[in-house]
Order: sequence, then structure tokens, then C-alpha cells
Amino acid sequence: METRREFLALASAGAPFLLPGAAWRSAPLARDPRPPEEAAGDEDLWSTVQAAYALDRSILNLNNGGVCPAPRAVIEAQRRYEEHAHEAPAYVLWRLQDPRKETVRAELAALFGCDREEVAITRNASESLETVQLGLALRPGDEVVTTDQDYPRMLTTWRQRVRRDGLVLRTIELPVPAEDDDLVVQAFEAALTPRTRVIHLCHVINLTGQILPVRRIADLGRARGIEVVVDGAHAFGHLDVRCADIGADFYGTSLHKFLSAPHGTGMLYVRRERIRDVWPLMAAPESLDADVRKFEEIGTHPVGVRLAIAEAIAFHRAIGPARKAARLVHLRDRWARRVAAHRNVKLWTSLAPGRSSGVALVELLGIPPLELQGHLWSEHRIYTVAIEHARFRGIRVSPHVCTSAHEVDRFAEVLLTLAEKGLPD
Ligand SMILES: Cc1ncc(COP(=O)(O)O)c(C=O)c1O
Repeated sequence: METRREFLALASAGAPFLLPGAAWRSAPLARDPRPPEEAAGDEDLWSTVQAAYALDRSILNLNNGGVCPAPRAVIEAQRRYEEHAHEAPAYVLWRLQDPRKETVRAELAALFGCDREEVAITRNASESLETVQLGLALRPGDEVVTTDQDYPRMLTTWRQRVRRDGLVLRTIELPVPAEDDDLVVQAFEAALTPRTRVIHLCHVINLTGQILPVRRIADLGRARGIEVVVDGAHAFGHLDVRCADIGADFYGTSLHKFLSAPHGTGMLYVRRERIRDVWPLMAAPESLDADVRKFEEIGTHPVGVRLAIAEAIAFHRAIGPARKAARLVHLRDRWARRVAAHRNVKLWTSLAPGRSSGVALVELLGIPPLELQGHLWSEHRIYTVAIEHARFRGIRVSPHVCTSAHEVDRFAEVLLTLAEKGLPD
């Protein structure tokens, strides 16, 4: 590893930082000896990462929380695999490409810090989580505890089980923002009864970027024999997430969000001893009962998108998970701290360390979020998403590592002008 002085000398030489496309690997980003928080604000450094993406910068995409772009190298890998597959599909897809998914499984396991036999590659967080939600054997009257801030599709899935299987769904309200982990844990604890079989919660709440104390809640569940299902859609590839820090038996995530893997990729982690207890969504032979691959029995599908996950992981590792997490918080702070003091601005996201991620929810008092979202798009080509929740509202803002500091500053200026003057007539 270079010393700090050598590294900075290399950085000031400039050249290694400006290589687009697949050549980003020669950038010394991963070897940067500075603490992540210090590197997080070095714009020269992050320009290499930005250059690795083929973006349309005539628009400013601040809805990366929905789904993220992949860097060029990932898209190129995906395209190569796909072209190859079409040369002789049955041979290439099934004989050559399919077995290589095992490398991706091992890479995902290494990133998450679990055994490769605990990782299923899926199409998205929805598939991962529904596999567990619909696959756990539950009886009429069994209770599921979740929150009113969980993802609508996941709530829909539980509600379908309520109608179909007679489960009871208890939906708790957490404070927004939640500044005190004790209150969060107590809210879950208060909802538990002797009939509670499942706790379902987000690791990072998609509406506000709030980070929940998943480890404490997983421990709470384990102590009472309750299944804990963690929705990691916004957390994986965003925070530096390690399996041991979660402590739950089930963790489902998309990979096409902050990991920047191809669209249509996800991961399901199931603790090894629990694989047998979950039925797959699509039937698998009995011989796979205890094999995590039973969750991948989906018939013919494009394998290339799955193999290109390995390229996204290489990109993620080259940045460094901790450095990436720090950069996303840095970008959030850069706009959110600037606008927060304005009398007409309400932040629904805590900016205290460790409470939230790079995603934040902001309300301009007096401006309905949908109108604000529409104005930002039509007048400034800034793309955000309006959130209307029963207890809070605003626009959700989610930059990514491909977003520049200049772009975030531009957004903050527009927001401050609107906070001061309101929407034009
Ligand atoms: C918290 C949460 N869970 C699950 C999902 C579903 O993700 P996907 O559409 O990739 O399946 C999302 C998507 O935004 C989400 O935010």
C-alpha cells in the first residue's frame, strides 16, 4: 500500500483518476490510505468513479433509491454474456454460463460475510423476501409484526397471507425520524404476543433513509423463537453490511440498487440450518430441500445478468464499502445540511451519525410533494420521487456515487430558492 504522501502525489499527477470505462480499475481508489470520511469529500478521487458510468447529465437523477445505473464495465460484461448466449443458447446458457453462477454466489457470500451455501441469487428484493414470506409454514392465528414504513409490496404479501391463511398482521408505528434505538426496540417488543411468529422490518427504510437497529431486533426475536425477516433492499451495497452485524436468519435484497449490479438481480440469504424450513416460490425436487439452490428453480432465464454481478462486486470493492458508505452520507450532508436551517424546510431524516444513510426525505412547507417533484422535473430536469405517507411527506432524495458534488449543490440551490419564494405561479 502507498503511504498517504505517495498516494496524494499520485493523485495530484491526475492521470490514473481520469480513466473511463473498464480502466477504472487502475485507479488507486481502493488503496487510498485516508479514513473513509476524509476521502469522502475528495472530488478528484470521486471523479474517477463518476467517469465509470455512462450517464445522461442533461438530467439530474436523484432517485437512485428506486433503482441504480450500473457502471459501463458491468453493462459491457452483461452484453458480452448475452451475445455469447445467443451463439448457441442451450449449450452456452446451460453448459457454460449456468455453472459459473457459483463464482457469483461465492463473491456475494464473501461480501456479506456468510457461507456460499446460504446465498440464493434472485431477480430482486421482492422475490427474495416473498420467498420467505410465502415459504414459511405458518398457521391461522399466527401473528406477524411489521411497521407502517415497510415496503408496500412486502406489506401486500403479508396481507395476502392474512386473506389466504388467516394470519394476523400487526403494523406498528416508529418515530420519524427515529433518534433513539431503545424506542424502536421497545415499539417492536410491545407488539409481540405469545402468537407472534415473525418480525419483518427494513434495515434501511426506503422512505426516509432511516437505519433500524436490526441486530437488536434480531436478538429480540431469537430469544423468543420468532423468525426475523430483514428487508435489506436499500442497505446492501450502500452501508457496509455484514451478516454477523444483522444476526437474522433471513435477509433479502436487490442488487440493482446501490450495488449497481444489472437490473433484475437480487440476493436472498438464509441461515444454513433454516433452508429446509422455507418452501421455494417455484417448486424444487425433494433432493434440494436443504440446498439454497432450490430458491433458483425459475426455469430458463438470462444468466448473463447474474454473471455480471461479479463485475459490480469488483467495482464496489475497488471503491471500498466503507468509503462508499461515507461518500453517500457526505453527498447527503452536502445538500441536507445546507437547506436544513431554512424556516420552510422540514427534514424527515435524522442527520446524526449512524441514524440514516445517503437517502433523505425533505419537505418544503406549503408545497405539496407531488407539485414539488413535478416542478423540479419540468423546470430543472431534476428527478426525485414524491412520498405521501399518512404521518409524513416530502420528496425523497437519493444521490449515488455517480452523482457529482456540483450536481448536489445545484439541487440545494434550487431547493433553497423554492423554500424562500415558493413555486412560481
Ligand atoms: C425497502 C424496499 N424493499 C423492497 C423493495 C423491492 O425492490 P425490488 O423492486 O428491487 O424488488 C424496495 C424497492 O424500492 C424497497 O425500497
